[in-house]
Amino acid sequence: MKKPDRHLITSALPYANGPIHIGHLAGVYVPSDIYTRYLRIKGEDVISICGSDEHGVPITMKARDEGVTPQEIVDRYHKLNKKAFEDFGIEFDTYSRTSNKTHYDTASDFFKSLYKNGKFIEKTTDQYYDNEAKCFLADRYITGTCPHCGHDEAYGDQCENCGTSLSATDLEKPRSRVSGSLPVLKKTKHWFLPLDEYEDWLKQWILEDHKEWKSNVYGQCKSWLDQGLQPRAVSRDLDWGVPVPVEGAEGKVLYVWFDAPIGYISATRELRDDWEKYWKDPGTRMVHFIGKDNIVFHCIIFPVMLKAEGSYILPENVPANEFLNLENDKISTSRNWAVWLHEYLDDFPGDQDVLRYALCASAPETKDNDFTWKEFQNRNNNELVAILGNFVNRALVLTNKYFDGRVPARANLNDYDREVLADIRKLKEKVEKSLDAYRFREALREAMNVARLGNKYLADTEPWKLIKTDEERVKTILNIALQITANLTIILDPFLPFSVNKLRDWLSIDTLKWDYAGNDELLEAGHEIKNPGLLFRKIDDSEIQKQLDKLMETKKKNESEKKEAEPVKENISFDDFTKLDIRTATIIDAFKVPKTKKLLQLSLDTGVDKRTVVSGIAEYFSPEEITGKQVSVVLNLEPRKIRGIESQGMILMAEEDDGKLYFVEPSGKTKNGSPVK
Ligand code: 2FM
Ligand code: ZN
Repeated sequence: MKKPDRHLITSALPYANGPIHIGHLAGVYVPSDIYTRYLRIKGEDVISICGSDEHGVPITMKARDEGVTPQEIVDRYHKLNKKAFEDFGIEFDTYSRTSNKTHYDTASDFFKSLYKNGKFIEKTTDQYYDNEAKCFLADRYITGTCPHCGHDEAYGDQCENCGTSLSATDLEKPRSRVSGSLPVLKKTKHWFLPLDEYEDWLKQWILEDHKEWKSNVYGQCKSWLDQGLQPRAVSRDLDWGVPVPVEGAEGKVLYVWFDAPIGYISATRELRDDWEKYWKDPGTRMVHFIGKDNIVFHCIIFPVMLKAEGSYILPENVPANEFLNLENDKISTSRNWAVWLHEYLDDFPGDQDVLRYALCASAPETKDNDFTWKEFQNRNNNELVAILGNFVNRALVLTNKYFDGRVPARANLNDYDREVLADIRKLKEKVEKSLDAYRFREALREAMNVARLGNKYLADTEPWKLIKTDEERVKTILNIALQITANLTIILDPFLPFSVNKLRDWLSIDTLKWDYAGNDELLEAGHEIKNPGLLFRKIDDSEIQKQLDKLMETKKKNESEKKEAEPVKENISFDDFTKLDIRTATIIDAFKVPKTKKLLQLSLDTGVDKRTVVSGIAEYFSPEEITGKQVSVVLNLEPRKIRGIESQGMILMAEEDDGKLYFVEPSGKTKNGSPVK
């Protein structure tokens, strides 16, 4: 294949309605950053584009919930997320935003170009309208009863109880979430992109011409194409977004998934005067980095938009990743089940590369993968500290100690030396092959194998012992170890930018271009190096436990909120309530019901009589500790036999989530038989 003239790398524009978490980083931004840094160090012409996706219904809903404007929401998260990327060394050439004027103009022009050339179909459909709030309702703004499972809080686009995707008109008893009123159907006109007309072209372009795409991406595209495509509306009735630039389209905006990918174009346009070269010249190779939920938009819808417009190039590849889970559970913003980047940095300041490393090493490249704190600790302690850190530290410290910080010259090589140098010469090709195929885990493994090799070489040759007897030999060994270290600054550059910068500083070298990888004479004899610091620190069990405790807290909180959110029982009349005869009573005797675990037989002084009640509290209370206790008892509950004993009433208990029981007792000594009401 002809070498491209330039590269355009895009990374999915994250929605500006929440912070970035490790799932985003592992799935999209670490891979795109590795790839971009790889191209940069190779000396290629490359630009990396990202920014905030600031439109869409969820942003307007969050704003409504918080009583602020959508602009305030996106301003907040744009700033936060831009900083999080910078903090983690994700080096975009621009981090733009879709609320910028350039974007409005670009998206508008794009729409107009398709409109003018008759690429849309116009359709009038029935859409729910809120007469009180005087607005059309996006599907998410409507709730009602799910026709499949009867769940009465289903959304207009999906029932979260049974998972079925729905149309708002499927819902029974629909309600507007804006005003609570009954929405009415009203006619509204929209513009549709006739995806079906591009089906044959897509089948050729993807299924025939891009068989090399990752199997998860290819498979998803094939399944969409096999099912057949339908026209897709590219406009919405909403007041937040890019206005539809057509007469008579007041109150309508471009659908967020129409304008967001155009955001890549606007961001490039803002960045460079020669932006068209990147988007329209066939010498450009465009690659989209995304998560699996974005595949259809980047492989089908956006390419159709570009094709319909006619003057743009198409993506060469879309290496989408699957999802990352956290401690065996799906990452979820609403349940706060995530590791947020800004929180990670609070707890692990300066350890950006550790997270980058751990996320790349277990990236969800071919299937969903799980992030665990234990594995994170192992990756750090057993790989970064024990292999990479240990090796470079030894190489640099020993050179400083024995040779005054000057690279020693090497003399006669033995077979082992020659073997190691031969391995180093092969490394570039191996790492390159994996990176070119977007197999970043494999590439990282290969790159770390170089550190592994160096570490073993020093452990086997033991220069700290030899120094007493054979200084010449030590010179050769350390020269080789330092050449390996210099090689590591090249091949680890895409993965561990912070650590590699430190290494370069300690070695007193500039960035060496990729082509030098594999060279075993990168450092001249006599070149002066510095005293190294520590490249990685050990992470303690207590630090990991703290993270696990934090997640446990979240889990507990979610569970109790879920309980609280469960609907209260149906209303009853006051008359019904007064039918209950609840009184104070004292437990005068108690013993375990034989052959049961849970039951206690209690004798009660109820003020009106003495009676027996069987109660399932034996797991929490012993007979001794409750004898003499005053409790509340329902006296007029129909008697029933439990294990052959007639129970004449029921003791009231409060039960916590985990089943723990507490007596509902008067706060002071009360006359037995006092009614509770
Ligand atoms: O899934 C998301 O987070 C979307 N905001 C991605 C948009 S990618 C591109 F089209 F802008
Ligand atoms: Zn349902």
